[in-house]
Amino acid sequence: MTTPGTTRFDGKVALLTGAGSGIGRAVALRLAAEGAVVHGLDVDAAALEETAADARAAGGRMHVRRTDVAVPGECRAAVEECVAVSGRLDVLGNIAGIASSEHVGDVTEDQYRRMMGVNVDGYFFMAQAALPHLLIASGNIVNIASNAGLMGIAYSVVYSMTKGAVVQLTRSLAMEFVKTPLRVNAIAPAGVRTNLTRGFHLPDDADFELMKPYMGFRGAAGPDDIAALFAFVASDEAINIHGAIISSDGGVTAG
Ligand SMILES: NC(=O)c1ccc[n+]([C@@H]2O[C@H](COP(=O)([O-])OP(=O)(O)OC[C@H]3O[C@@H](n4cnc5c(N)ncnc54)[C@H](O)[C@@H]3O)[C@@H](O)[C@H]2O)c1
Repeated sequence: MTTPGTTRFDGKVALLTGAGSGIGRAVALRLAAEGAVVHGLDVDAAALEETAADARAAGGRMHVRRTDVAVPGECRAAVEECVAVSGRLDVLGNIAGIASSEHVGDVTEDQYRRMMGVNVDGYFFMAQAALPHLLIASGNIVNIASNAGLMGIAYSVVYSMTKGAVVQLTRSLAMEFVKTPLRVNAIAPAGVRTNLTRGFHLPDDADFELMKPYMGFRGAAGPDDIAALFAFVASDEAINIHGAIISSDGGVTAG
């Protein structure tokens, strides 16, 4: 990504999960390029280091910590380290997520627990740990939801459930803190070209007619498209946006 030439995040600290790949990586590079001190978390330590090296090569500042967001204690430790190192927390980006496709009958208990752990527990416990610091900074949370949180998705029942939970986490936090300056919003992309979509394989006998409502007509987005929206929503320019689920899906949920 080219440096956008804005300084919307000068003096701000952003803590981002999933910063090793895809949308999280693009957001980390974008916010660092706009002046933020970025703290990136991911289970993939090598991928995180690559993001940080690219951020620094472009003149940005980025710290990393290997973190499994499915473990609440690791979420709390990551938030504490961020504030201890950088002195404040202005933006939490809950971005790390996993997806899979299978017949509902084939979902194992382990798969179910892991998806809930990363996509729901991770978002909740990161938010809970970050809230006291975000309130001090009058900061904000941006959760990455999905069109799958807004419509039913065949062969991805558990993933769709987790994204529905992210939508309600966003709205419920927005209501609980509506009398404070804290903002809480979500971005709901449809297809984005990342490792997550590259690793997504429908069951061999999938009924493709069921896919039509969420295939869309405009093709997949790039991670930078989502990062640009994230940077706006997380910035002071979006001061009046609170409790919103903002689709960036090429019209998939319009019809
Ligand atoms: N790609 C899409 O089409 C799409 C569409 C809608 C929503 N989303 C959402 O966007 C978010 C980012 O996805 P992406 O497409 O960039 O995927 P990605 O696979 O490229 O990146 C996800 C990152 O999260 C990390 N991660 C996975 N489990 C983790 C854990 N337990 N703790 C910490 N980090 C962990 C991975 O290592 C990876 O670096 C996810 O929440 C996903 O559900 C993606």
